[in-house]
Amino acid sequence: MKDVSEYSERMNLVISDLITYIKRKQTVDNLDGELGNLRDALYKWSFETINSVLFSKRLGAFNDPPTPIAEEFYRNVCDMLETTGHLLLVPPYYKYIKTKKWNQYCGYWDTLFDIGGKLIDEERRRLLSTGMDLSNKSEDNRRTDGIEFLPYVLSRGELSDEEIAGNIIELMTGGVDTSANTMLWTLYILGKNPDIQDKLYREVSSVLKDGELPDSQAIQKMPYLRGVIKESQRLHPVLIATSRTLEQDVVLSGYHVPAKKNVLALMYLLSRDESVFDEATKIKPERWIRTSSSSQRQHSPFSFVPFGFGPRMCIGRRIAELEMELLITRLVSEFQIDCRNDKEVGVTFRIVTSPDQDIRIAFQKRN
Ligand code: HEM
Repeated sequence: MKDVSEYSERMNLVISDLITYIKRKQTVDNLDGELGNLRDALYKWSFETINSVLFSKRLGAFNDPPTPIAEEFYRNVCDMLETTGHLLLVPPYYKYIKTKKWNQYCGYWDTLFDIGGKLIDEERRRLLSTGMDLSNKSEDNRRTDGIEFLPYVLSRGELSDEEIAGNIIELMTGGVDTSANTMLWTLYILGKNPDIQDKLYREVSSVLKDGELPDSQAIQKMPYLRGVIKESQRLHPVLIATSRTLEQDVVLSGYHVPAKKNVLALMYLLSRDESVFDEATKIKPERWIRTSSSSQRQHSPFSFVPFGFGPRMCIGRRIAELEMELLITRLVSEFQIDCRNDKEVGVTFRIVTSPDQDIRIAFQKRN
């Protein structure tokens, strides 16, 4: 199967569309460079990116108007996420009485499964038309180096149709609000801290020639960029906690916790704990650069796990990291990012932690 690094080109195409979209919207919105709905633009970006990786084609979220399939899938993902946030916060009456919200929630998932199923079927038909024998599980058919994700999964023949659909749809939905909100927070940090933005711009300019697009190799030469995104994830982890059910009794901080109990690791609190991070609430991308003189004492690797840990950690981690690194590199190269929020932005819970007000960013073209 293709390595994640091979998706840079495709991810860059989506970013180019986002940049065109930003410029188009700036003219329409007429807010002196500010984008009327930045969240929406970033959701379109993460949605279009993950689908271009999974289905090797574009769904058309940035088309004007968006294609019906992109529009429908995208709206249902957003509504499903919104409804999940609501259901998580109310007592689970819906287990016994099918409440209106519960029915809506199921309806959104049904639509997502319908659309996902159609996309998978289309790909299956395309592969069969190329002569690929999907029922042949021989070693030859299993030689799958460098092939696209969906053909790989379909040709392995290890999962039932239902399992394939379930997994693909989880990937299609899991990568939308997580990456988009991390980018919202990162742009907020850059817009509020011109010194950090300048330093990042200098790093990006020193690695890329004029007009050159970044790829995963270029990103390797940008430790400050990775530090900026890590600081954004540390201070604004989009998933505030991850949980596990204990297999055996453990002692945690002197407390005996019996097997079968659920334990939560609260990433949001860990990140802001002075006993874990020096100057915990300060944004210091340098703290992640090992050779830097300003790097602080080593913290435990478990004090920063924005993608979780172990066999159930985020399966999309490498995709998410690359798409976010490419996006920030391109936006900082192209624009001066100014934040127009007067009041400090707080946090609200929408399954992921989101800004409690619109992040108001003006994108001013660099010379
Ligand atoms: C900034 C972006 C992202 C963050 C912060 C994030 C974070 C996480 C976390 C914390 C978990 C739970 C891990 C655990 O409990 O140990 C998770 C699970 C998951 N993530 Fe992500 N994620 C991101 C992007 C993505 C993307 C782009 C995809 C799709 C390609 C994705 C797909 C998934 C899936 C399918 C799971 C469930 C894995 C399982 O249960 O085995 N995520 N993610």
